[in-house]
Amino acid sequence: MDFVHVPVMFDEVLSSFDNDPLVYVDLTSGGGGHDAGILEKYPNVKAVLVDRDQDAVAHLKEKFASFPNVTVVHAPFSEIDKVMFLLQIPKADIVFADLGVSSFQFDTPHRGFSMQKDGPMDMRMDKTSQLTALDFIKSSTEGELRNILSLYAQEREAGTVARALKKCADEGMTTTLQFADAIRKAKRYAKKGIDPSTQVFMALRMAVNDELGELESALKKAFPLLSNKGIMGVITFHSTEDRIVKNFFRDRKNGVPFYADERDAVPVCSNASFAVDMITPTDEECDRNPRARSAKFRLLKRG
Ligand SMILES: C[S@@+](CC[C@H](N)C(=O)[O-])C[C@H]1O[C@@H](n2cnc3c(N)ncnc32)[C@H](O)[C@@H]1O
Repeated sequence: MDFVHVPVMFDEVLSSFDNDPLVYVDLTSGGGGHDAGILEKYPNVKAVLVDRDQDAVAHLKEKFASFPNVTVVHAPFSEIDKVMFLLQIPKADIVFADLGVSSFQFDTPHRGFSMQKDGPMDMRMDKTSQLTALDFIKSSTEGELRNILSLYAQEREAGTVARALKKCADEGMTTTLQFADAIRKAKRYAKKGIDPSTQVFMALRMAVNDELGELESALKKAFPLLSNKGIMGVITFHSTEDRIVKNFFRDRKNGVPFYADERDAVPVCSNASFAVDMITPTDEECDRNPRARSAKFRLLKRG
């Protein structure tokens, strides 16, 4: 399997993780690009590589087969507490996440993420999960779709697009190109040089994979795992997900207690001091890799 993905902010990630870790956890291992760098820098680190995509997991197992210190786990990152419990690894010195989809997922037509290449309206990162994008459109009301489009994509024509999505599903359309074409026809306004279906597809993907819910949950579950030299680093690509990470890190810096799980009776309280930081990609990287343009790398460092 050819797994193509250029890791974003590779040098910044490697230089920020400077705490000589014993345990490194990647919540979104994907093509393992960042992980290869970490393993080169810290050859003896115990690495736990998580992804909820089976194709990514198969690729990672192959890529790191000769590393006895690497464990690859298929799981949603909202379950990182359970993963670490089962592996009997109580603490992590680095917890890293590079959010969103990989180029491999995006460019593989049958995964249904692309509005340029035809495939089923699927968009599931985890193929064992129940709801495809088509199911999501069919089972949502027009109003629900409109809200998703406004919330995740700040779509100005959310009502029009929601109606078009429902109409496509009612008429029996099932493929990405059919939906993308209907969105393009329905929308009256488009930013120059940007396919009008781009933001709509992103919003559907975020909803199908509950990306914001997963992120909120993962931050809460991962924070208590940080060791006394722990660093958490998250690369975001979307303003709403970035706000979630920024606020979470700010609250930890300010020592605000929180519940790691809504069923918990006792909140997580930490007296440790933390520093926060935010790094953006260089212009040179943005020119070389357009995917990097919206990236922000946020750090929470124990210190
Ligand atoms: C941008 S890619 C990561 C690329 C990786 N850093 C590299 O260098 O190859 C994001 C990956 O995160 C995975 N992912 C997204 N949300 C996830 C979640 N909630 N749980 C686990 N994996 C997730 C996706 O399946 C995808 O493989």
